[in-house]
Amino acid sequence: MIRSIVRGTGTALPRRVMKNTDFAGVVETSDEWIVQRTGIRQRHIAEPDETTASLGEEAARKALEAAGLTPADIDLIVLATSTPNNTFPATAVEIQQRLGMTHGFAFDMQAVCSGFVYAVNTADLHIRGGMARRALVIGSETFSRLLDWNDRTTCVLFGDGAGAIVLEAAEGEGTLADRGVLAASLRSDGCHRDKLYVDGGPSTTGTVGHLRMEGREVFKHAVSMISDVIETVFDQAGITADDIDWFVPHQANKRIIDASAKKLGIAPEKVVITVDHHGNTSAASVPLALHTAVADGRIKKGDLVLLEAMGGGFTWGAVLLRW
Ligand code: ACO
Repeated sequence: MIRSIVRGTGTALPRRVMKNTDFAGVVETSDEWIVQRTGIRQRHIAEPDETTASLGEEAARKALEAAGLTPADIDLIVLATSTPNNTFPATAVEIQQRLGMTHGFAFDMQAVCSGFVYAVNTADLHIRGGMARRALVIGSETFSRLLDWNDRTTCVLFGDGAGAIVLEAAEGEGTLADRGVLAASLRSDGCHRDKLYVDGGPSTTGTVGHLRMEGREVFKHAVSMISDVIETVFDQAGITADDIDWFVPHQANKRIIDASAKKLGIAPEKVVITVDHHGNTSAASVPLALHTAVADGRIKKGDLVLLEAMGGGFTWGAVLLRW
C-alpha cells in the first residue's frame, strides 16, 4: 500500500525575539508569572516585512533542501494557517507562486492550532488517493497581528513562525513497521467556539479582529480532548504509550503538555518541548517542534513519532507516523 513518508523538514522564525522581560511597559506581567503558568520564556514577533507567506516560503524552501528536492518535484501544497496574508486568495497559492510553481495545486487549511495535524492528514489522504505524489505541508502563522496588546491574559502567550515538511508517496507493507503516516484521528466541536475565537472577520465585522480566550476553560478541556484522540490513534495502530519514541505536542502551555503526557503514560524524556523558545505559534508549533528534534538528532529514521494538537473551535487531533 502507499504510505506518505517524511522526506525533509524546515522552519522559519522572525528576526525579532521578544523575551518575557520585554513586556515591561506593554502590560503588567512578570517573567516569573509567564514561566510558572506557561513555560514560555521568549517568542519571535514578525516585523512588517515578515508575513505568513514569507515565513511559510522560507520554511518550505528549507524542507525542500533537506529533502534534496526542488519546487518542480512538488504537486501539492497544504498550508495550515489562521493568519493568511489576505482573506483570499489562499496564502498557500501565494507561497506556490513565490516558489515559482505554476503546476500542481495549493490550498489553505483553517483549524487554528490543530491546523498542521489536520493538514498532514489531508495531504496523506491526497497522496494515498493518488491525487499527489509529493506534498509540502506547512504551518505558518503571524498571530502577533491578531493579539490585543492591552490584554495580558493573551498577548504573553503567542508568537510567530513557520514549519514545513515534505511528504512523499512510498510503497509500504501495510504494517506498523512501515515508514510514513500510520494512523490519525481528527475531532472538532463548535459548542466551544466562544472559549477561543477572534472577534472579527470578513462576513461579520469586516475587520480582522482580536484573539479572545477564556484560558481557564481551554485548559480544563485540553488534557481530556488530547488524550481522547491519542488513545483512538493508539487503538487504530494497536500500540501503547510505551511504543512511542517521540511525542511532539502542540506547544501552547508546558503544564498542558506535562499533564497530557502524564495521563497517557508517556515518559517525560520522550516529550519534545519548544514552547519556552517560541511561545504558542498555533499551526506552526508542531512542525517547529518536530524540526527541532530532527535537527538536534533526537528523531531518527525508524522512530515512532506522535503528533498532537488542540485549538480554537475547538478542534483537536493526533497523527502517528514512523520516521
Ligand atoms: N501576568 C500576570 N498576571 C496575569 C497574567 C499575566 N500575563 N494573565 C493573567 N493574570 C492574572 C489574572 O488576572 C488572575 O488574577 P486574579 O486572580 O487577580 O483575577 C491570575 O493571574 C490567575 O489567572 P488565571 O487565568 O486563573 O491563570 P491560569 O493559571 O489559568 O493561567 C493561562 C492562565 C496561562 C492562560 C492558562 O489558563 C492556560 O494556559 N490556558 C490554556 C490556554 C491555552 O493553552 N490556549 C491555547 C490552546 S489553543 C491554541 O493554541 C489556540
